[in-house]
Amino acid sequence: MKHITAKTKICMVIGDPIDHSLSPQIHNAGYEALGINDQFVYVASQVKIEHIADFLKGVKTMGIRGVSCTMPHKLIVMEYLDILDETAKTIGAVNTIVNEKGRLKGYNTDWLGVITPLEKLTSLSGKKVAVLGAGGAARAIIYGLTKKDAKVTIYNRTKEKAEALAMEFGCNVALLTDTKKLAASDIIINATSVGMKPHENQTPIDTKSIQKNQIVFDAIYTPFETKLLKEAKKHGAKTIPGIEMLLYQGIAQFELYTGKNAPEDIMRKVLYRYAKH
Ligand code: ATR
Repeated sequence: MKHITAKTKICMVIGDPIDHSLSPQIHNAGYEALGINDQFVYVASQVKIEHIADFLKGVKTMGIRGVSCTMPHKLIVMEYLDILDETAKTIGAVNTIVNEKGRLKGYNTDWLGVITPLEKLTSLSGKKVAVLGAGGAARAIIYGLTKKDAKVTIYNRTKEKAEALAMEFGCNVALLTDTKKLAASDIIINATSVGMKPHENQTPIDTKSIQKNQIVFDAIYTPFETKLLKEAKKHGAKTIPGIEMLLYQGIAQFELYTGKNAPEDIMRKVLYRYAKH
């Protein structure tokens, strides 16, 4: 701990609950790898939603450099920030707060968590993408996909929610049971909570829809590999696990807090090591 001095800046993640967060491990590993662990340290705090206003005052008072927000804080923090970046405004949620000389600016890096790993495999322009779900996670994903000119169809259990989102972002709507339409997609992304622990035996769609030329991405990272991804592999599709989303939204936060390129491979290694336990 010799490297921590009075000049070290604090970054942190807040949520409720928070004790399972892997953000401290990946950010601190990144600081260490770049030799900036004398400049930055990353911690976590469980903050109750009714204490958000007090907490954000504290961020200014203490000069905390960056705050990553997870559930249930992504919406409420917006009310107390000095500036909102355009992307955060459009997505309607903040997962990243940067303290710029006492002014708090809200960003959203969740969409990059999906777009960056997808773009490592393919270009998104003109691709037919099936987004399963129409909640908060789906919103950030759909924002990113439409920004990259993909042709998005939203599949959701509650049709009205899918229609409202489709109207806002200029997408199509279909039913989760539309196996034929799903099979004709280039990419399938699960943004529902179906398949998450403790319901690991479920899949949001009939896996007969999956084709070998498709890419299947699951935003869920508990379990590490969902049943949807296991089935997709069996069908010969390329798969991306939800942990990659966690990694790339974190990498974008790291770069906003430190102003430096994140050491991606080291951060991935640390994340995978902890996530697989
Ligand atoms: P998040 O912020 O993680 O996206 P959310 O806003 O609660 O969470 O959204 C959850 C998504 O999972 C919704 O699209 C929800 O569908 P509805 O809009 O019909 O509620 C979807 N979902 C949850 N349980 C589901 C289930 N058993 N079958 C199908 N979809 C489900």
